[in-house]
Amino acid sequence: MTGDAGEGVGRAQVEALFTLAYGRRPAVVASAPGRVNLIGEHTDYNGGAVLPIAIAQRTWVAMGHSRDGESRAVSRERGEAGAWRHADARAAHAWWDYVAGALVAAEALGGGRGAREVAVASDVPMGAGLSSSASLEVATILAALALEGVPMDAAPAAAGGGAACTLREVALAAHRAESEFVGVACGIMDQFASALCREGHALHLRCDTQEARAVPFARGVLIVDTLAPRALVASAFNTRRAECDAALAILRTRDPGLRALARATPQALADARLPPPLDRRARHVVSENQRVHDFVQECAAGGMGERLGRLLNASHRSLRDDYECSSPELDWIVEHCVARVGIAGARLTGAGWGGCAIVVGEEEALRSVVPDLSHAFERAWGRAPRTWLTRPNAGARIEASA
Ligand code: GLA
Repeated sequence: MTGDAGEGVGRAQVEALFTLAYGRRPAVVASAPGRVNLIGEHTDYNGGAVLPIAIAQRTWVAMGHSRDGESRAVSRERGEAGAWRHADARAAHAWWDYVAGALVAAEALGGGRGAREVAVASDVPMGAGLSSSASLEVATILAALALEGVPMDAAPAAAGGGAACTLREVALAAHRAESEFVGVACGIMDQFASALCREGHALHLRCDTQEARAVPFARGVLIVDTLAPRALVASAFNTRRAECDAALAILRTRDPGLRALARATPQALADARLPPPLDRRARHVVSENQRVHDFVQECAAGGMGERLGRLLNASHRSLRDDYECSSPELDWIVEHCVARVGIAGARLTGAGWGGCAIVVGEEEALRSVVPDLSHAFERAWGRAPRTWLTRPNAGARIEASA
């Protein structure tokens, strides 16, 4: 099991990589974490609420101005280096699209229009559904702003606020990079989590109003990566989005004022008699949104694990049966972990269709479940899962500025 301390990637590594690639020290360094979502899955693009935490693993971005008008990016984890002209930046279906898109999105916040040289080092597992791409976008935008000396204001934007930029604006710009530049139709959760999470807290984000607040969360979270190929995630995700849009369109014929699918009531769903599978998709979204609300209430009341666990388990069942985005491996992990002493509950996290599950409970119980879980998983699936024990970590930050 990998511990909470990450895997030894940090400022020193990204600075060394930058110096090796470009023959000088970087002007600025920023970092941003990956995330897991505690509860509230597939609610963000339906105007509902989510509750992610930042994980210990982070992406580090070192940056300087380019001296010849060409933008460049190197990565410690990816072999190929990218080069492009900032003025005609467009998606190249390469890993540096996230950097190029983030630099374009940063322009609107005062991040400058010139070419940049960038080095990236990350211990956020790639392709596991832990938001490695959101962490890269957010860290790149923060670095671009630091490079131009744009002051950061950690507080939410005041009405008519001055030149300081907020982390919320960074999150929205990172989301634009992902949706408009890279072309992935994701919701806003991942970029907001990476930018705004706080240590020891989960982020309660209402995706319709973008209202965010920190909720104390002191439990351990075990992340279990099934290491299943996730090739079908993008197309399955788009199919679900279309199904949710279709369900909303039908509901609006009865209630034109309905703002988002997550806002529908269970009664409205029953009355509308949506055709399958739209009925199941809508039922997941509406019930999941309620579970986020109940989970947050329970955290605020300092509730013991049992009720939180029931909500986590119910979320998984709903994702498995109604949203149909689980996988046999994810179901196996949840079944293996629930009903053990010290473990509150378990569910898939992120988009699903493979990727990771989370197990929530007492840290000691989580630690002791790992050896048995790993062996039994390997016997069942022919490979050992990756696991990380984490607690809520800090969101994005500037690590060194000019
Ligand atoms: C992916 C997307 C998020 C969110 C989750 C499901 O991680 O990037 O925006 O929709 O799936 O909750």
